[in-house]
Amino acid sequence: MTTISVKTSTEYEVIIDVDLHDRAGAYIHALIDGEIAAIVTDRVVSALYLDRLLKSLHKKGFETPVFTLDGGEASKNAYNYISLIEFLADHKLSRSDVVIALGGGVVGDITGFAAATYLRGIPYVQMPTTLLAAVDASVGGKAGVDIEAGKNLIGTIYQPRAVLCDCALLEALPPSILTDGCAEIIKYGAILDRELFCAMKAFPRINMEDIIGRCVQIKADIVSADEYETGRRKILNFGHTVGHAIELLSNYHISHGKAVSIGMAIETRAAWKMGVCDQACYDELIELLHQFGLPYRTGFSAGEISRAALMDKKRKGDKITLVFPEKIGTPTLRKADVVDLEEIIDLGLVKSGENA
Ligand code: GLY
Repeated sequence: MTTISVKTSTEYEVIIDVDLHDRAGAYIHALIDGEIAAIVTDRVVSALYLDRLLKSLHKKGFETPVFTLDGGEASKNAYNYISLIEFLADHKLSRSDVVIALGGGVVGDITGFAAATYLRGIPYVQMPTTLLAAVDASVGGKAGVDIEAGKNLIGTIYQPRAVLCDCALLEALPPSILTDGCAEIIKYGAILDRELFCAMKAFPRINMEDIIGRCVQIKADIVSADEYETGRRKILNFGHTVGHAIELLSNYHISHGKAVSIGMAIETRAAWKMGVCDQACYDELIELLHQFGLPYRTGFSAGEISRAALMDKKRKGDKITLVFPEKIGTPTLRKADVVDLEEIIDLGLVKSGENA
């Protein structure tokens, strides 16, 4: 078992272990005074894991209303958010009760946002069931929903009471979902931890509990120092300025992990062309993305990507902060004028006739 403390305004622990679903009731009972544990999940996750969690919560006497979403980013919308709030009200949850997010990033984000805003804030617990949610989305309190104009454009930062990560579940993930999570692990390695980056080269001959623990520790340290993303937390957005734009442009047909993979490749190629890093850094990144079968090219133009990227939250007035690797494991933050973004992205695109 690995336990990692997150020292934000509300402190909490991330527990990583096998078969945690069977013990979740006891953990949550120790944290919460109330009698209702509402569960938010999606149809796929519910068929696989809900029964075990229900059993464990019932053992501790919790009432367990269940709110089930369709899978996929399209569910992370304002309509479902309001329906979830109505559901919590119909089941008379009070501020001493708890909401449990059982699922991936979509379930975690919408649940966190509902928990943050219902009755001006009630406790919630994250139980990630995808690798991406385990290493990134479930920790740090970012919560929200998407609107037409972009991803997570309504949202807040509101910390969970605990994150319970059952790493046995992650072993059974379909390859594409596993690869999505690997993109976020490669992100941590590329900007903050060369050893982690190199460890991923040995995948799948690696201990996933160790790797998840290492990513969560990196994230816990960063969000503990900068909960509200006024400084260092921005580093975690490496690959996300372009990545979020690509998700939006593809109408979310390109998943978050794969869009971040393309984003990392474009942002690093731009960094190389601007002299921020050398070509070896870019080549090493591409080689690892390629090893995982992750994408690193796009058919969208620099103009399309920059227009979509400027809808994102990373813009401040006429400036945008970009994250580049100086070398694998070392990040740098650079402010750019928004009028220059298209040109920077264009530097990162592989032109016809060029090699990746
Ligand atoms: N996903 C990046 C962050 O939570 O800051």
